[in-house]
Amino acid sequence: MIKPHGGQLVSRMVEGQEREALEERAPHMPRISLNAREVCDVEMIATGAMSPLEGFMTREEYVSILDLMRLPNGLPWTIPVVLAVKEGGGEQYEIGSDIALLDMESSLLGVLHLEDKFEVDKEREALVVLRTIDSAHPGNQYLQSIGDVYLGGKISLLHRPKHQLFNNYRLDPKETRVLFKSKGWQQIAAFQTRNPIHRAHEYLQKCALEIVDAILIHPLVGQTKGDDIPPEVRMKCYEVLLEKYYPRTRVALSVFPAAMRYAGPREAIFHALIRKNYGCTHFIVGRDHAGVGSYYGPFDAHRIFRDFEPEELGITPLFFDNAFYCKKCGGMASTKTCPHSGPDHIVLSGTKVREMLKNGQTPPPEFTRPEVAELLMKAMQKEE
Ligand code: ADX
Repeated sequence: MIKPHGGQLVSRMVEGQEREALEERAPHMPRISLNAREVCDVEMIATGAMSPLEGFMTREEYVSILDLMRLPNGLPWTIPVVLAVKEGGGEQYEIGSDIALLDMESSLLGVLHLEDKFEVDKEREALVVLRTIDSAHPGNQYLQSIGDVYLGGKISLLHRPKHQLFNNYRLDPKETRVLFKSKGWQQIAAFQTRNPIHRAHEYLQKCALEIVDAILIHPLVGQTKGDDIPPEVRMKCYEVLLEKYYPRTRVALSVFPAAMRYAGPREAIFHALIRKNYGCTHFIVGRDHAGVGSYYGPFDAHRIFRDFEPEELGITPLFFDNAFYCKKCGGMASTKTCPHSGPDHIVLSGTKVREMLKNGQTPPPEFTRPEVAELLMKAMQKEE
């Protein structure tokens, strides 16, 4: 089985006496309410999905990953995992003390053992991580919504965030590893996605299935931007397609509880490293992975992998060129395999598909399987 990033799966879920003691002290601690992204991060840190991180980043870690795309010990890491003070400069939080972490309903989740408190230049963070300071970028809208003092330190999770949805599909890294082992799968390709499945996604997944033992379809269900299709609709699409078009003995479907950053290339590395923690050996990176609008070149997320030695990432990327249905080829193809040109290809942007659905038009079967189109149409009609 592939080793987690940094060698060991982190667990920051405390139990027994340690948990009782923290639970008793928590009401007397200074507190901080987490936003949706931070709640996702706390859970992922605690379950080891973010191994080797054991908490929110300290200044040293933050600066190091911004400047070098590595943690201070040299391990690759590309995305800040940080906790922002909600009001003022965080004067109430003393380094060396414990802080109660609350969810958005003010229920106790855990404790931050505060090691560091530091002011950041969010514009610099935006430029480095998102490659833009454009306020239309959803990552910048998030940055603008939070404070500029971050709190760093290890966390202890006492209670997992409550989830209304997908409880059957929530597997921690420890559990996906057990699943893969029990199935006898040695090579597993992970597929990250935040959009409803279309034929190009299916093509990528099935090409990967030709090479490896199995795929883990891992739709992101944490916070996404407002106009992305809600995860419950996306999961329904997967259920229908898996039933009808996939070899069930070689496919696992589980949800990925992260928030989307829309950081393109840097997020592709982050997504890959995390899937290694879930036990995957391969990671699919297609066109404009984790991108939004036209902030990133379509293959910037491939190129960034060259900044690392394969051994230091540990997980093998499977790069895919632009995929589409080609009328002349009479099937799915990609720019790598198809000699025909634009007019023969059926390509629709996410925006175009949303527009079609809103107008009651069914996207063509060469783009989306009819079963998926039907579910998307229904979801759109409900929204109106
Ligand atoms: S993402 O934000 O999670 O990357 P999405 O769910 O659309 O968005 O994509 C999931 C994966 O499929 C990503 O690796 C993406 O690069 C890839 N992908 C999506 N559409 C295509 C396409 N037409 N051709 C090649 N790769 C694609």
